[in-house]
Amino acid sequence: MTVERQQVAHRVDAEDLELGGGLEILLGAALERVAPGAVLEVRTRSRAVALELFGWAQLAGHQPIGQTSRRDGHVVTICRGPSTRVLAAPLPPREAPPPLRAGALHAGDWRRGRPPPDPDPRAGFAPLGSVPEAGAPAHDWPLSQRDAIWADDLGELVEQATAQQWDAAREVPWEAARNLDDTTERAVAQVMTFLVQNEYAALYVPAGFLPQVNPQLVELVLWLGSHVQDEARHVEVFTKRSLVGGHHGYALASTELSLSTLLEEHDFTASSLLLNVLGEGTFLDLLRFIETHAPDAATAAAARLAHRDERRHVHFGISNIRRAVSIDAGAAAPLVAAAEARAAKLTSLSGLAPVLVEALTIMAARSMQPAELSEATADIRALMRAMERNRVRRLEACGFDAATARHLSDLHTPNLM
Ligand SMILES: [Fe+2]
Ligand SMILES: [Fe+2]
Repeated sequence: MTVERQQVAHRVDAEDLELGGGLEILLGAALERVAPGAVLEVRTRSRAVALELFGWAQLAGHQPIGQTSRRDGHVVTICRGPSTRVLAAPLPPREAPPPLRAGALHAGDWRRGRPPPDPDPRAGFAPLGSVPEAGAPAHDWPLSQRDAIWADDLGELVEQATAQQWDAAREVPWEAARNLDDTTERAVAQVMTFLVQNEYAALYVPAGFLPQVNPQLVELVLWLGSHVQDEARHVEVFTKRSLVGGHHGYALASTELSLSTLLEEHDFTASSLLLNVLGEGTFLDLLRFIETHAPDAATAAAARLAHRDERRHVHFGISNIRRAVSIDAGAAAPLVAAAEARAAKLTSLSGLAPVLVEALTIMAARSMQPAELSEATADIRALMRAMERNRVRRLEACGFDAATARHLSDLHTPNLM
């Protein structure tokens, strides 16, 4: 090979750098810029380094092809070998960076408005924008089909979730819950106990899906992480409210039955319907009722803060299902079937547990005076009607026709979640 006469593709001046003292880094970066078969010229002030470079180049899979000494130093030429340090195609050229919004980088902007491509189901934890190296262990992500699980505004929802975090220890005026009368406090403890039971299921469902999601759908990974974090905080805040007044509530078996059927749903979109749209949607009305009728500022604050998170969760559910149904009209039937299957497991539940209805009524009445109990009972009836009306409205927003929306709403668990 007449490599001596080959043109030098790139030159680098090592000055006084030595092997073991940083020269390898310089050479590695320089060789990245040279194609296999092309020549790198290295200038060094040290004759010893020039001699060592021959051995180094051979060990690194390149071919040393010449060395000349001059008055100002020594020049070694190296023909780059075919080996690469990484088993992957070359990195793409530098591109225009994602836009900023008033200096902030939003997850909604890092794909520049494009949805992600359908990911390789076997790829690993390759970050967005990275080039995966060959030879890595293969994965098999159960949730890898973009159109089955995506929502168009996921990036924005992730940003909202981060911006709206709160502190259950310090943002609730706990002192305000200290001195309620026994009857009212016992009712509040029962309502809070019911909420916590349900919040556990709202936490465990997204937590179960999270490790199934292909990491290339990174926005969904971040979203589910925030959902889990939100629900953990709801478990925390309602547990605290149930304990702070000293009374206790019953963890109801009917609630356990309803929640167990939620955990049994392993299809992501069906779960999105049952949990996010129907369950958390119905809880939006319940939380607003509790905030409005709370006998103390701590209960009201806890309900208000949780409601803010639940709005995001419901928004995701509607957005996720609307996308699935709009892409594939056949996607609606299995969703209806999932709701029917769940309802078939809950035929033993005929309505909201009487213990809970009683607790909600007393909490809202704030006394056992007949006039106030009567008014609170009317308020609860109005709540149930509002829940039904809003459920149908949310289902229609998902893309279901009016009759199907009514049918799905009727199938919803009497436990509310
Ligand atoms: Fe929640
Ligand atoms: Fe939620």
